[in-house]
Amino acid sequence: MSFLPISILIILVVNLAKAVYYDSWEGTLLTDEQRRTYENANILSTCTNDIQPCDETEWRRTDGSCNNLNYPTRGAYHTPPLRILPADFREGFQFRLTSSGKEYSLARHIKNNLLTVGLATDAKLTQLASYYGEFMAVDVTSTHDVLNFVVNRPYCCKEEGKSDPMCDPNFIPEFDPVHRFSGHKCLNQTKPMTFQNLGCIDNSTIPTRTDFTTTFFDLSNIYEFTAGSLNLVRSYEGGQLKYEVVNGRQFPSDASDNTTCFIKQAISTGCTRNVPNGVLGSNLFTTWFWRFHNYVAQQLANLNPSWDDERLFYTARDIVVAFHLQMFYYEYLPEVLGKDHMIEDEIILGNSTGFRDIYDDTVVPQIALEYAYANRWFHTMQHGAQKLLDKNFNLIKEVPMVNFSLSVQSLAVDDIMSTLTRGSYYQATGKADFTVDPDISNVGLGPVQEIFDIPTADLAKGRYFGLPSYTKYKDFCSGYSKKHVDFDDLTDYISDEKIRQLKQVYETAEDIELMAGIWVENLKEGAHVPPTVHCLLSNQLKRSIIIDRHWYERPNRPHAFNYEQLQEIRKASLARLLCYVGDDVEKIQPKAFVIVGKGNNLVSCDEIPAIDFTHWKEES
Ligand SMILES: *[C@@H]1O[C@H](CO)[C@@H](O)[C@H](O)[C@H]1NC(C)=O
Ligand SMILES: *[C@@H]1O[C@H](CO)[C@@H](O)[C@H](O)[C@H]1NC(C)=O
Ligand SMILES: *[C@@H]1O[C@H](CO)[C@@H](O)[C@H](O)[C@H]1NC(C)=O
Ligand SMILES: *[C@@H]1O[C@H](CO)[C@@H](O)[C@H](O)[C@H]1NC(C)=O
Ligand SMILES: *[C@@H]1O[C@H](CO)[C@@H](O)[C@H](O)[C@H]1NC(C)=O
Repeated sequence: MSFLPISILIILVVNLAKAVYYDSWEGTLLTDEQRRTYENANILSTCTNDIQPCDETEWRRTDGSCNNLNYPTRGAYHTPPLRILPADFREGFQFRLTSSGKEYSLARHIKNNLLTVGLATDAKLTQLASYYGEFMAVDVTSTHDVLNFVVNRPYCCKEEGKSDPMCDPNFIPEFDPVHRFSGHKCLNQTKPMTFQNLGCIDNSTIPTRTDFTTTFFDLSNIYEFTAGSLNLVRSYEGGQLKYEVVNGRQFPSDASDNTTCFIKQAISTGCTRNVPNGVLGSNLFTTWFWRFHNYVAQQLANLNPSWDDERLFYTARDIVVAFHLQMFYYEYLPEVLGKDHMIEDEIILGNSTGFRDIYDDTVVPQIALEYAYANRWFHTMQHGAQKLLDKNFNLIKEVPMVNFSLSVQSLAVDDIMSTLTRGSYYQATGKADFTVDPDISNVGLGPVQEIFDIPTADLAKGRYFGLPSYTKYKDFCSGYSKKHVDFDDLTDYISDEKIRQLKQVYETAEDIELMAGIWVENLKEGAHVPPTVHCLLSNQLKRSIIIDRHWYERPNRPHAFNYEQLQEIRKASLARLLCYVGDDVEKIQPKAFVIVGKGNNLVSCDEIPAIDFTHWKEES
């Protein structure tokens, strides 16, 4: 040992700080053989996570690694989700047959029979509630399915599509109420990217979706929306994220010099910018949280002039993520899942505002496939007509929400951010019932597709994943205290009328697909979602706290808040977020996920509790 030449010693020392490769599927250190196989197939970065060695005192990483020190890459981007119930496929991972041995009917046929297309507004929630739901979904799952058929495989409905195994379009039934007049016969659709079809693991294993976001609720859709994007979005000055200013308004940016595409150029130049760009709801919240990060970093810098960029960046991010979690768990979810249910299920604290710690390092950080899937029910609650309102909340005009899809640049035009923001907290969202908005059902993605039907795609996705029968989920959700075999076993959750509709498309209760069953359920008592959505969401939301070493309510995490700081975080609210960073928000209702009404009237921003950042001033 003592004779090692200096040059080898240097290599050893350098290697200590070098990234280590883990296999994304296995979560274990990459063997030389695996490495050679991946390199030969040119999929090394697709199938591995290369991470720096963990340091248990460091901040939450943006790529999700080193959260659980026993399983350093679990919870990082492109690591496998768990399944609440085992997959149910026929041979060759084809979707199962019905109990009488037939192929299932076309997804659009089933949707046409179970959901009514029309306009109905909700009596409780605002449009912003459904936008926040979208944004929260992309924190833990990626939208690559849409990009697949819009950009990579634009031919799935054409002759070429027939020979591409990744294409799986949804055909239009013969007597379709809309498209028998339009002449369209097919809706684009691709299979999701899986560890198997990307080549990371052999095709004899159960198809497992891969996502490009982390498993944690950590705003990874902003800070590291694709692997390595942290370096594109940090300005490395004052802890700030890069931004550009258009007409005095701040927008997300990755611009490093004047040659990069700017938001204000994007429409005319058609250049693609490297910032998150999805549906309207997630684009709005991305813009707001991006600005909020910079606002917080600025507050911290004012209070602590000696802090460097690194400390400002990570402290600001920690506050922003905590604000977001407080708003998600204690403001948004109680409106959706019911506060009493959440307290009972130990997802939130009752009346205590102190610390709590339910972290368990023996639980592998994973997100359930069924969590992301059940979230798709919220598509039926979206309202297609977005109102633009003036300062006095008078209607200027209505614009189809879908026109903003994949079009983040359209938010930088004219006064759109002000009028649209006001509209989204003032107007109601779509009703939580059996109707779906015509745009969601027939236009779906706006200008990027001729036609699209989001609920049909949602149902079809359950088939790719081989999700077992709806009745199996009912068994699970009852804690296996009740067996669900016949249609009669479902009458506690589904009306007789809807059971008759189910019988038109499914021969037996065991044939019912998960999303179809969810669509026809009555809302759970004391909640604003169907009981099965409630069950599948609650299951993950609790797990998400248990698996997160950096959970903001923990007193023992690295860089934990002190008690006073936590009390400031408890003041987080959507109204406060918009008062900080929304465009021309002067008046807003204190509960901005809930429509204006008795006890929730518009007030000036001075009346919305604000965070006292002086609690982050370092004692000298
Ligand atoms: C399918 O996708 C391609 C590419 O985005 C598009 O040109 C085509 O119009 C789409 N087909 C339908 C039926 O929407
Ligand atoms: C698995 O299937 C995909 C396409 O579905 C193919 O590209 C890949 O080569 C297959 N991998 C193996 C190991 O057979
Ligand atoms: C970028 O543009 C701004 C204003 O248009 C100008 O002041 C600045 O010098 C330019 N920077 C570079 C690197 O060209
Ligand atoms: C709220 O806190 C008080 C005082 O700690 C306690 O007596 C009461 O039972 C709590 N209520 C609930 C609903 O937890
Ligand atoms: C929305 O998009 C459609 C199709 O691209 C277009 O015809 C329509 O004019 C747009 N509506 C508005 C209000 O911009």
